Amino acid sequence: MRGIVKTFPGVRALGGVDLDVRAGEVHCLLGQNGAGKSTLIKVLAGAHQPDEGTIAWSGEQVALADPQAALRLGIATIYQELDLVDGLTVADNIFLGRETSRFGITRPAAANRAAGELLTRLGHPEIRPTAEVGALSAAQKQMVSMARALSQDAKLIVMDEPSAVLDNEEVQRLFGVIRDLTAHDVAVVYISHRLEEIREVGDRITVLKDGRTVATGLPARETPTREVITLMTGRTLEYVFPERRGVDGGAAPLLEVEGLGLRGHFEGVHLTVRPGEVVGLAGLVGSGRSEILETIYGARRSTSGTVRLAGGRLRPGDVGAAVAAGIGLAPEERKSQALLLDDSVYRNITVSSLDRFARGGLLSGRAERAAAREQVQALDVRPTDETRIVRTLSGGNQQKVVLARWLLRDCRVLLLDEPTRGVDVGARSEIYALIRGLADRGVAVVVVSSEIPEVLGLADRVLVIADGAVVAEAPADSLDEHRVLDLVMEGTPHTGTALHEGDVA
Ligand SMILES: Nc1ncnc2c1ncn2[C@@H]1O[C@H](COP(=O)(O)OP(=O)(O)OP(=O)(O)O)[C@@H](O)[C@H]1O
Ligand SMILES: [Mg+2]
Repeated sequence: MRGIVKTFPGVRALGGVDLDVRAGEVHCLLGQNGAGKSTLIKVLAGAHQPDEGTIAWSGEQVALADPQAALRLGIATIYQELDLVDGLTVADNIFLGRETSRFGITRPAAANRAAGELLTRLGHPEIRPTAEVGALSAAQKQMVSMARALSQDAKLIVMDEPSAVLDNEEVQRLFGVIRDLTAHDVAVVYISHRLEEIREVGDRITVLKDGRTVATGLPARETPTREVITLMTGRTLEYVFPERRGVDGGAAPLLEVEGLGLRGHFEGVHLTVRPGEVVGLAGLVGSGRSEILETIYGARRSTSGTVRLAGGRLRPGDVGAAVAAGIGLAPEERKSQALLLDDSVYRNITVSSLDRFARGGLLSGRAERAAAREQVQALDVRPTDETRIVRTLSGGNQQKVVLARWLLRDCRVLLLDEPTRGVDVGARSEIYALIRGLADRGVAVVVVSSEIPEVLGLADRVLVIADGAVVAEAPADSLDEHRVLDLVMEGTPHTGTALHEGDVA
């Protein structure tokens, strides 16, 4: 790709980008939220037409008029916002629109068999080809998308933040698939905000900043992370976790969860959070962490146990009551669960706090927008324009908008599911500081994250969840990444007391 320019109304997303990808390499595309990564790969996928610039494939200039044109050349894309059809089966999604592929698929049975083989090759035999995609987890959907790319027999597979929805073990499986692909001379363009992955799986790096290439062809293993960050942000910074103030061990718990269970998902969960405390839930994707948050919030009706807020018992399965009591949940799947994509940034931020801006039955638009603007600035949402339609924001900036909504609400208990998914290194530190700031004002916070260093750095206390049960609980500073990984992998609940020894509770 040479001199690619792409302008949207009011935004120059790409201002002349170059990218060379070689057969059999993993080429990492890096840049902050809004740098233009997804836009560039949509041009490569034939989904966007560039205003200027040229694309050559095996030395010959090509025009990618539509996604089919790219696919015919052998360019397959796994989009950041997956483009699967929820109401169709796994197999239908994989072979959608290609009833006559090299698999010669005409009958559903053959399609199911081929789909099953692809998913097994990806290390996910548990995903049934006949299952409806809508019922799958985010990680499983990602795998379906990946299976589709494999089935297309691509020479180049573009992956836009595939690891954002995967846990450590699944990321390792993905890397296995990627190594297998590159060994067969398939090229991979890999986008991620987790810089440690680049060293592990990448061959070369291209860095975008504000729609321009600032470096290209850097060796992935030899380039120091600090240098990459400096290229991306124009400044040097590392993950900074805010200082813990220490929780008042004598304070009454604000949130008390006792013996909570949701049949088929988790059982016997005990969890207390004091005002000012951040409790982290570590565990694999599918271990039940998200379901625990959703059940506390009342979005799922518990089958056993109780949830109390400041001593008052909450009715199971009653979101209205939970919200009225002051519980907020920022869910992990921003697209389907949280965002009004065709509405403005400010309305998305204020929608759960509108009562605050109502005076005598009238909505004060000015106050609403001012409050939203404050959040936009605090979280560094780009562009810094609260009137923008959310759909036109980059993935990471959409995530910040979801978070802003819950930061604006006056919650007493805040449940955060993967709060920094898809958020770049610069903005992460800001988000950590905001979360800690809320705790310092007396909010009780529960954070689910698949990134163990994030849980350990942010939380005061950590609960490790495996197979729907709490297998360990300890102060964050008594654990390290390896210990948590061991606990997560062991999987079975421990009855011993050793792990509770140093517990602040
Ligand atoms: N359809 C669109 N209409 C208007 N602006 C857009 C559209 N798509 C992207 N943009 C803008 O183009 C810029 C680049 O966005 P892009 O999605 O390529 O960023 P990104 O590097 O993928 O970021 P992230 O890491 O957050 O996913 C952003 O300013 C974004 O708001
Ligand atoms: Mg993107």
